[in-house]
Amino acid sequence: MIYLDYAATTPVRNEVIEAMKPFFSDTFGNPSSIHLPGTEAREAVEKSRESILEHIKGRGRLVFTSGGTEANNLAIKGVCLSRKKGHVLVSSIEHPCIMETARWLSSMGWKVDHIPVDRYGLVDPGTVEDMIRDDTVLVSVMHANNEIGTVEPVEEISKICSEKGVLFHTDAVQTLGKIEVDLRKIDADMVSFSSHKIYGPKGVGALFVKEDVKLVPLLHGGGQEFGLRSGTENVPGIVGFSKAVELAVKELPEEAERLRKLRDELISGLLEIPETFLNGHPEKRLPNNVHVCFRFIEGESIVLMLSEKGVFVSTASACSSRKLEPSHVLRAIGLNHRDAHGSVRFTLGKFTKREDIEKTIEVCAEVVEKLRKISPFTE
Ligand SMILES: Cc1ncc(COP(=O)(O)O)c(C=O)c1O
Repeated sequence: MIYLDYAATTPVRNEVIEAMKPFFSDTFGNPSSIHLPGTEAREAVEKSRESILEHIKGRGRLVFTSGGTEANNLAIKGVCLSRKKGHVLVSSIEHPCIMETARWLSSMGWKVDHIPVDRYGLVDPGTVEDMIRDDTVLVSVMHANNEIGTVEPVEEISKICSEKGVLFHTDAVQTLGKIEVDLRKIDADMVSFSSHKIYGPKGVGALFVKEDVKLVPLLHGGGQEFGLRSGTENVPGIVGFSKAVELAVKELPEEAERLRKLRDELISGLLEIPETFLNGHPEKRLPNNVHVCFRFIEGESIVLMLSEKGVFVSTASACSSRKLEPSHVLRAIGLNHRDAHGSVRFTLGKFTKREDIEKTIEVCAEVVEKLRKISPFTE
């Protein structure tokens, strides 16, 4: 089996499982209880919080959530619900949990504009500056795109927002542990993270929030997590997330270099297949992301045929509706419907080896040739 879908999710590392174990049935107290088991659990949560903040070099609050989706919802809705009305800017290639939140806001009377991207998926900071209006309250641009892997100039965008007095949020779900996430350099007011993309457990994430940012909570109750996320904390999950961050950040320089080499080998091998091109930026891309269009065939068919051969990848044109709408990201970078449907994402990770890359190239060449023979689009 060759798993090349690490951007979708990752297996939990053994070190992370070991770190979590005691918090299921030994140190099982409720962190809000004032007795010993409670204070032990509280200590574990607070140590995890401190450790993650240290690793991202963040000065502010880290609110634990159920994952990246909740963190993004809390950031956008939390800011907007604390005001009556206003204008919000989001990039046109955000994850659906931002796109759909923006759509909902718009239905509630908020003005929402989408920042365009170039053909590589890059946001131009100058365009962001031009699109900021007097009533703009928030700008959200992801740190790197989950489909095509393009890394955005968030340091520059955060500076522009700060100069203009507009809040800036970035979704760093795909970048933590893959490229540097240093919040002393990215001057964002809010940053979203998720544990299961970095070999941590599923169902845990966090939103970094600067002290002076006012947010309305989405969940009301016991007032946990600075009053921003009520509900008993997921102690084992939080401990596991913190361990995963620690390991990912520690191993990043070496691992990113290793993956970058494998990524480039995979790109060169796949581009030798006729009528194939790379999506996303050639250099400003995540070290583990390969995204290519095999023209004249359907991405889904490639994914299914590769799966039969034990190679697991993902299609970027995963249909979110019955109309077979292609990915909004691929449409935003200017791909036509046919090319968007023929695009496939390969994301590498900790267990990817050189042999996997060689095998994948070989199998892809075979599968693409076979599918092109029966494709109605091939001449
Ligand atoms: C960029 C990005 N943001 C947010 C999410 C959602 O994170 P979670 O699965 O933790 O809700 C994902 C996951 O696919 C993602 O890739």
